[in-house]
Amino acid sequence: MRYVPLDTPKPISKIGLGTWQFGSREWGYGPDFEQRAAQIVRRALDLGVTLFDTAEIYGFGRSERILGAALGDDRAKVVVASKIFPVLPLAPVVQQRAVASAARLGVAGLDLYQVHQPNPVVADTTTMRGMRALQDVGLVGEVGVSNYGLRRWRFAEAALGRRVLSNQVRYSMVDRGPEKDLIPYAEQAGRIVIAYSPLGQGFLSGRYDARNPPTGAVRRANPYFLPENLERGTELIATLREVADAHDATPSQIALAYLLRHPNVVAIPGASGVEQMERNAAAAEIDLADDEYAALVTAAHAFRPITGLAAVPKLIRARTGR
Ligand SMILES: NC(=O)c1ccc[n+]([C@@H]2O[C@H](COP(=O)([O-])OP(=O)(O)OC[C@H]3O[C@@H](n4cnc5c(N)ncnc54)[C@H](OP(=O)(O)O)[C@@H]3O)[C@@H](O)[C@H]2O)c1
Repeated sequence: MRYVPLDTPKPISKIGLGTWQFGSREWGYGPDFEQRAAQIVRRALDLGVTLFDTAEIYGFGRSERILGAALGDDRAKVVVASKIFPVLPLAPVVQQRAVASAARLGVAGLDLYQVHQPNPVVADTTTMRGMRALQDVGLVGEVGVSNYGLRRWRFAEAALGRRVLSNQVRYSMVDRGPEKDLIPYAEQAGRIVIAYSPLGQGFLSGRYDARNPPTGAVRRANPYFLPENLERGTELIATLREVADAHDATPSQIALAYLLRHPNVVAIPGASGVEQMERNAAAAEIDLADDEYAALVTAAHAFRPITGLAAVPKLIRARTGR
């Protein structure tokens, strides 16, 4: 495993584990998944993974409970990251919700506590007042944000009066927005971009095609899995496979290695089984050659999916079968 080259109380692994899948029906993994989830966590620990990401909203607290129980006594050794879903993130609410998350996780403190998304009405001055109080009493180590643009990330830092260590954003070969300004800022200021959906929710694994789309509500709502887009992704997947073959690796591993080239980026793929976790952890060791990276960039740029409003009627049709 490799770790982020930053001064943090505990090392942060370049590959973390995302746990939205834990206890969340919308992934469609069924009730037996809870046991597998615990095995995934234990294997991740063996492989040197130190970043475990959850949120109070995932399975309405179930993800935090499953993760905390699976970590057991190792909880104190790793970076446990959770998020507040900021419906009304007034300072006392932030504090109360952190206490509840820590209790579900069974930890004395949250190593990283993130604001899940920017609240359109409540300013970060208010939210960060709560975060500062949590840091002052030692219940929260580092503060993070999620789905923030650069301006608001920096505003949050000014409001906190301390570093907001990380911004967790959608970042993968099919969503490269963070390369514009968030990653350069992280590198210049010593912050971290945490890449969520780093495999495009499995799109980049090459496992799915127009005749074989994934099931589960999350991915039925994701336009990348529309038959047209799976079709349009063929070239990109072929390039991933070509690079993967040269490394005796899989397309998913190469898709992760593409992100991890940036020193201040960590990726937190979810996993549906232990073997995926193993492969994802191993991706941290892959070094892409410059020409391989260039080929991946070209293939990623050439991928033009149907997204946004244009995708909505197609998603509805795919769901209703009409
Ligand atoms: N902050 C936010 O707003 C936000 C939003 C979304 C996610 N997140 C966080 O980010 C984490 C990851 O994002 P995500 O789960 O949306 O997407 P992701 O990590 O891109 O995709 C995860 C899915 O990809 C497949 N997969 C994983 N490893 C694989 C491998 N080695 N080979 C082949 N397939 C593999 C698995 O599905 P199958 O095996 O079923 O194909 C798995 O459930 C979440 O768990 C959550 O913690 C945060």
